[in-house]
Amino acid sequence: MKNLPNSRKRNMRTWEPGEKAYQLNGSGKDNVPISLIDLASNDYLGLSQDPRIIEAAHKTMLYEGVGAGGSRLVTGSRPIHKKLETELGRWLGLERVLLFPSGFQANLAAVCALANRTTPVIADKLIHHSLLVGIKASGAKMKRFAHNNIIDLERILQNCVVEHPLQSPLVITESLFSMEGTSPDIKKVATLCENYKARLLVDEAHALGVMGSKGRGLCHGISKGITMISGTFGKAFGSGGAFLATNKTFGEHLLQTSGAFRYTTALAPPLASAALEALKLLKENPNKGRNLQKESMLWRSELSNQGWDSPKGNGPIISLELGTDEASLNKQYELEQNGLLTIAIRPPTVPEGTSRLRIIVRSNLPEKTLKKLLFHLGEKQ
Ligand SMILES: Cc1ncc(COP(=O)(O)O)c(C=O)c1O
Repeated sequence: MKNLPNSRKRNMRTWEPGEKAYQLNGSGKDNVPISLIDLASNDYLGLSQDPRIIEAAHKTMLYEGVGAGGSRLVTGSRPIHKKLETELGRWLGLERVLLFPSGFQANLAAVCALANRTTPVIADKLIHHSLLVGIKASGAKMKRFAHNNIIDLERILQNCVVEHPLQSPLVITESLFSMEGTSPDIKKVATLCENYKARLLVDEAHALGVMGSKGRGLCHGISKGITMISGTFGKAFGSGGAFLATNKTFGEHLLQTSGAFRYTTALAPPLASAALEALKLLKENPNKGRNLQKESMLWRSELSNQGWDSPKGNGPIISLELGTDEASLNKQYELEQNGLLTIAIRPPTVPEGTSRLRIIVRSNLPEKTLKKLLFHLGEKQ
């Protein structure tokens, strides 16, 4: 292992709901316990603590046990898996949904199903690590376009048509980038892909449940140009597990050929049940995501009123760039001392010189959280 400077070392911080932070009083002597507010997790709608979801998972666990005990093609397929796949497909308006134990695995499976050694893959510069691992595993050659830059994407597609006239390229992007908080114009990306006969894979991990019409993600309603989307239940859905959604042909292709789908223990039934309940909840409260988005826009404008560069994007992820590792770690520490849990995100997760605080606006934050954050964040130095 390389000798990492202290500012680059990671530690697996443990944290639990209800945890207290210890604030030093003015004299710096006594520790005063205060609640630690979670401004860091991807539990955007607070569903991981929702009693209905907990009860659904609990009931399934009592009846089915904890684990599936086998892979989907052996003994692991339960009615709850089929039900979740069908309901998700209906909600998203897509023909086929397949469940996976994690989003990382779903992304790996998606890329390997859509690309091989001869496929030109064109990916946004900031795609998630799991997609990069998928590209590597597929053996495909990758070209990268500047983040969310349609003009750059088209330039590469044009070259691709000349260099590989017989190959259909695979374009990969995300609908809400997890470390930036930004979104591409998916409709434009899809139209370009349609025009250049490219296939398009969109990772909707962070958008699902909170962005797009009724929280159905930013690909929803775009009828042409999108080949496959991936989603996870580990974020707004509040549990764990993931899925790929696509048409019948690619769905069948995944089922018949994807090792990442076939050779793994099926999603634990209680998690499938929790995801199904979260889906019901989202259907009953279709404005949850829109309200959260509105709130996040208020946070953005208050932050920029206080001198922070207007944070990009319009979803619940707010990225406050501080530059150096030390500056972001110090700010994280300072905020935590004052009861606000945020995490400093540093290279290699983000590009060199762009260390930042990733702040998550969640729908069940205590009142006056924004005021508290603004007070303790102060002005940008
Ligand atoms: C953009 C993106 N895609 C996929 C994943 C992986 O999802 P999961 O946590 O379900 O493995 C993550 C989670 O870190 C992510 O941020």
